[in-house]
Amino acid sequence: MIEFSQRLRALPGYPLAHLPAIKRRLIDEGMDVIDVGAGDNDAPPPAIAVETLRDGLADPSLSKYGFQQGLPAYRRACVAWLERRYGHRFDPVAETLPLIGSKEGLSHLPAALVNPGDVVLVPEPGYQAYIGGALLSGGTPHILPLRREDDFLVHLDRLPADLLGRTRLAYLNYPNNPTAAVADQAYLERTVATCRRHDILLAYDNAYCDLTYDGYQAPSIFDVEGAREVALEFFSLSKSYSMTGWRLGFVVGRKELVGALQTVKSYVDTGPFLALQKAGAAVLEHADEIVEPIRVELQRRRDAAIAALAEQGVTLAPPKAAMYLWVPLPEGVASAHFAKIALERFGALVLPGSAFGPAGEGYYRIALTVPVDRLREAIARLGKALEAARDEPVAARA
Ligand SMILES: Cc1ncc(COP(=O)(O)O)c(C=O)c1O
Repeated sequence: MIEFSQRLRALPGYPLAHLPAIKRRLIDEGMDVIDVGAGDNDAPPPAIAVETLRDGLADPSLSKYGFQQGLPAYRRACVAWLERRYGHRFDPVAETLPLIGSKEGLSHLPAALVNPGDVVLVPEPGYQAYIGGALLSGGTPHILPLRREDDFLVHLDRLPADLLGRTRLAYLNYPNNPTAAVADQAYLERTVATCRRHDILLAYDNAYCDLTYDGYQAPSIFDVEGAREVALEFFSLSKSYSMTGWRLGFVVGRKELVGALQTVKSYVDTGPFLALQKAGAAVLEHADEIVEPIRVELQRRRDAAIAALAEQGVTLAPPKAAMYLWVPLPEGVASAHFAKIALERFGALVLPGSAFGPAGEGYYRIALTVPVDRLREAIARLGKALEAARDEPVAARA
């Protein structure tokens, strides 16, 4: 019998893994399913990305291995975007690295840092790539629960010194998925100071930095003085430009840290397709004009969804960023049970809070990925699902 590794067996179930199959079955059975589950916006990819990729396909030199160096123009576009956006300068050759989506870099990073038993700090609820990367590298994830009473911030400076002493890597993600929380400069300064004191690499996941509302601007970790010593910042083209399936992102940081990830990656992949990198460069050069209409539409959806929830007696402060509403459930309604009823009986696909780890229990996530009328319809269905979930006997809960 083939036996699988302890690392594989330690992985929690991946929350999105079984949903596409259930959704497909329900659609095949004739159900109208509204999918506000995955963070995959309905906007098409930018025209300039499509055109540049199409041209790139006709250029045989872009069909070669990209290796980790990738397309120099993409590296230049990444650091130029960062400088325009945040005023931080990085070297395009040594201090950035193309990624096959930011998930790829985030999950491979522990292999560069973690020895068996070393601690990796993982916020929960949170993006599954963090715990996955920690476990697959033989590290020991230490879960940091995000709580509403702390504004969904994790406070590294309040952790015991012996735990911090055993920690090699900390993941941090603001604007946050799934809670949509944001972090201010003072908080980031405290966090960076703690990481510097304990030699902890801070993996700052800034996948949602462009999706901000009401004039809010999401910071870069490099806004904090001294952050270059300990931080890598991960960016994604997926959310800002509606390019989730293209698999393109990049990481920025000082040479030694980027270089360590590059070494890992040279053994497991050969970099993103060069024609894609060319398309990514074109997008980054026009980033502001591309992202603005996406941001405006997401804000409209956010407001419509919040109003629809308020009609059901659920009041939420409008999040300043990301593309999610993190909605509390009434006491006693298990999130997986609610999400199952919502999908199978009412055709509304949301992610239960528990899908982001046990600390996500008591909530569910709505992604603002469908037009306003569909979002309102989804929320009406969720209201009915909630009534049904409340009426179910406890024993029936999943
Ligand atoms: C917090 C967070 N980080 C990273 C990613 C991954 O993005 P990418 O498509 O660049 O791999 C996601 C995707 O959902 C995310 O929510």
